[in-house]
Order: sequence, then structure tokens, then C-alpha cells
Amino acid sequence: MISDPADLKNAFARFVTGVTIVSCKPEGEGVKPLGLTVNSFTSVSLDPPLVLWCIDKTSSVYNTFAQANNYAVTILKSDQADMSGRFATPGQHGFEGVEVETMVTGAPVLKDRLASIDCEIEARHDAGDHVILVGRVVDLDYKDHAPLMYVGRNYLEGPVISEEN
Ligand SMILES: Cc1cc2nc3c(=O)[nH]c(=O)nc-3n(C[C@H](O)[C@H](O)[C@H](O)COP(=O)(O)O)c2cc1C
Repeated sequence: MISDPADLKNAFARFVTGVTIVSCKPEGEGVKPLGLTVNSFTSVSLDPPLVLWCIDKTSSVYNTFAQANNYAVTILKSDQADMSGRFATPGQHGFEGVEVETMVTGAPVLKDRLASIDCEIEARHDAGDHVILVGRVVDLDYKDHAPLMYVGRNYLEGPVISEEN
């Protein structure tokens, strides 16, 4: 039994992740794309190519992401903790003042990035206080650089990732 919910958070905080900005191009004319800082992103399947991330049902952008039929993942570089902070701030989910590129699905990714993964929604799974959004990868790119990592509620610089490793 878990007697204290803080224990759950403390255990989860010991798991090292990368940091991403997940965006979507919402349905409808003139509706602006939104972005959210996310570390629940993970790879799922190579064939077919599937990934997932989990969105908190209490998030201010939950309805937009839950209804969109796409999302794009920007995997952050080690020097982009500022972007993580920005897109984790309530009311700061727009891309105003940030250089972006538009992916095949219409969702934006940061121009400065370690990698991008563009997806069409494959499935949505209800999961407690979150919803799991499974995406089918339709486009991607990557470069050789160090990733931003997150553990113990702190940012760390990861090792340079290149074709050799
Ligand atoms: C490193 C980091 C990782 C996060 N990962 C997730 C995540 O996987 N899913 C999620 O819904 N929110 C995640 N969040 C929280 C959101 O980015 C955001 O801070 C939160 O939803 C509050 O903003 P809002 O009230 O506008 O939704 C994460 C925040 C940080 C700093």
C-alpha cells in the first residue's frame, strides 16, 4: 500500500528522463498551436512506429490536446532548460517569440532542437488522472548534440549523442 502520495512522486523523481516540448495543431481555422513541457514521452513500437506521452486531465491545455488528431515532439538540447520552464508555465503555451518550423501534420517544433518526432494520433487511453496519447510517427529528424535530462526535479546535461553510439 502507498500510505503517502509524496512517496510516489519521490520514487518517480528518481527515474531519469529527457525533456520535450509537445505541440499540436488544433482543429479549426485560425486556432493557434499550443506547446507543453513533457517528460512522460517514450518510444513504444518500431513496426509500426509508435510513441506515447501522458497528459494531465487538469492541465489548462488538456481539451486542446485531447481533441487534436496530431502532435509533434521537440526533444530539447542540454542548453534549453529555459524552454522547458517557459512551456511548463501556466498561460505560456503559445509559440509567440519562439522560432519554429512546421511539421507534416501542421504541428510546430522548435527550430533549435536535438530531434523532432511528428505524429498522427493512433489511440487515446484513459489512465487515472492522465490520458495516454499514442502517436504514429509520420516524420522525424535529429542531430548530434547533448540532450537535456531531468531527474530529482533538476536539469542535467546529457552526453553527446552521435551516430557512433
Ligand atoms: C520537466 C517537466 C515535465 C513535465 N511533464 C509533463 C507530462 O508528461 N505531462 C503533463 O501533462 N504535464 C507535464 N508537466 C507539467 C506541464 O508542463 C505544466 O507545467 C502544467 O501542466 C501546468 O501548466 P497548465 O496549468 O497550463 O497546464 C511537466 C513539467 C515539467 C517541468
